[in-house]
Amino acid sequence: MIKSVSLHNEVLYNQYLELRWLLLRKPLGGIRGTEIDSMESESFHKAAFDSNGNMIGVGRIHFSGNIAQIRYMAIVKQFRSKGFGSKLIKELEKVAVKNDIKKIFLNSRIKAVDFYLKNGYNKKKSVKPSFGDIIHYRMEKIF
Ligand SMILES: CC(C)(COP(=O)(O)OP(=O)(O)OC[C@H]1O[C@@H](n2cnc3c(N)ncnc32)[C@H](O)[C@@H]1OP(=O)(O)O)[C@@H](O)C(=O)NCCC(=O)NCCS
Repeated sequence: MIKSVSLHNEVLYNQYLELRWLLLRKPLGGIRGTEIDSMESESFHKAAFDSNGNMIGVGRIHFSGNIAQIRYMAIVKQFRSKGFGSKLIKELEKVAVKNDIKKIFLNSRIKAVDFYLKNGYNKKKSVKPSFGDIIHYRMEKIF
């Protein structure tokens, strides 16, 4: 199940940030806090839950004018390749479409490129990572 995470729900939002950090920053040596950027309060946040109600994935979208960017997509390792990531990205895309956004872009880690291709994103150029030294590619989807 995919649910929205509100910044006003402090407990859930902290759990969401912790999972984002655990999956995306801690493995690269990032301390707690490195998982946040300046767009948090302007973003839409979604989390995936397993059948026991445990949070097992996170993802975020924010808008810059009429373009949206998806960031911080990650699923707990043992739940990968079960479709949770695709469900999560579809829910983030719905937020963009509802807000009349016609283009979404993201900077994908090299290992996740196939996942985004599968979800309809086109691979553009390589880009400098915002954190760490993993090769990233800009990917875009037009609606
Ligand atoms: C990328 C990620 C969010 C995908 O989530 P997921 O729940 O595994 O995605 P889905 O199950 O919907 O789709 C998986 C499909 O994507 C494709 N894929 C390509 N590379 C993949 C990868 N490294 N991991 C998972 N899926 C990948 C495959 O087609 C795969 O299908 P398969 O399992 O039948 O081979 C997840 O693998 C993840 O958290 N990775 C580590 C963190 C990360 O790199 N996040 C992206 C930052 S840009």
